[in-house]
Amino acid sequence: MEIRPLEWKDFAGLTEVYLDLYQEVETNPSLGISLMPSPPSLADEAVWFARLYAAVLERNAVVSVAVEDGRVVGSCTVERRDRHAETHDIGTLGLLVARGRRGAGVGSKLLVDALARCRGLFEVVVLTVRADNLPARRIYERVGFQSFGALPHGFRRGGVWSEMVWMWADLTQPGGHAAERKTA
Ligand SMILES: CC(C)(COP(=O)(O)OP(=O)(O)OC[C@H]1O[C@@H](n2cnc3c(N)ncnc32)[C@H](O)[C@@H]1OP(=O)(O)O)[C@@H](O)C(=O)NCCC(=O)NCCS
Repeated sequence: MEIRPLEWKDFAGLTEVYLDLYQEVETNPSLGISLMPSPPSLADEAVWFARLYAAVLERNAVVSVAVEDGRVVGSCTVERRDRHAETHDIGTLGLLVARGRRGAGVGSKLLVDALARCRGLFEVVVLTVRADNLPARRIYERVGFQSFGALPHGFRRGGVWSEMVWMWADLTQPGGHAAERKTA
């Protein structure tokens, strides 16, 4: 498996992994990622990807992808929250591994790679995670994320609320994130 920065050719692979979530959620209501009310069209995805790729080129985003046998099997994205002077150095993180490839260390490796490449771009990284998403919380904590609050009604699926936990990592602290830590 190769972990590398996003490339323009990754559109189809990333889209395939993302759109599969809409199939997965039909049988897995505990899927720990929020989705649109209905699957986006291919045109919507193309606009999203072009915007994301432009953000990478402009140094407003870091995206690491995991590729196995030529197929994209996961991604980790850190995007600048906004362009305001006071909040410019804060990035928001998202992580996704393809169904069938989870539990094999892909998410951990993506996280380490993306955070290492955040150096010089972001000083603080924030994320939200469903409280019951234990695999995600485990790897976030391992690379140095800390919880700083929770919204009891932060995520509703099928009429049932779940708690949403906020986490952050200070990338300016020596050893404060994954780049210097072991992942297993
Ligand atoms: C969350 C996600 C990215 C993790 O990726 P992954 O490749 O499965 O993660 P890894 O294999 O690197 O690590 C998973 C860890 O969770 C642990 N784990 C698995 N099930 C667990 C459970 N029920 N309780 C506690 N830990 C658990 C694994 O043992 C492993 O830890 P270890 O390396 O110490 O053994 C992946 O499951 C995913 O894409 N889920 C759907 C989307 C999602 O939830 N994204 C995150 C949104 S915040």
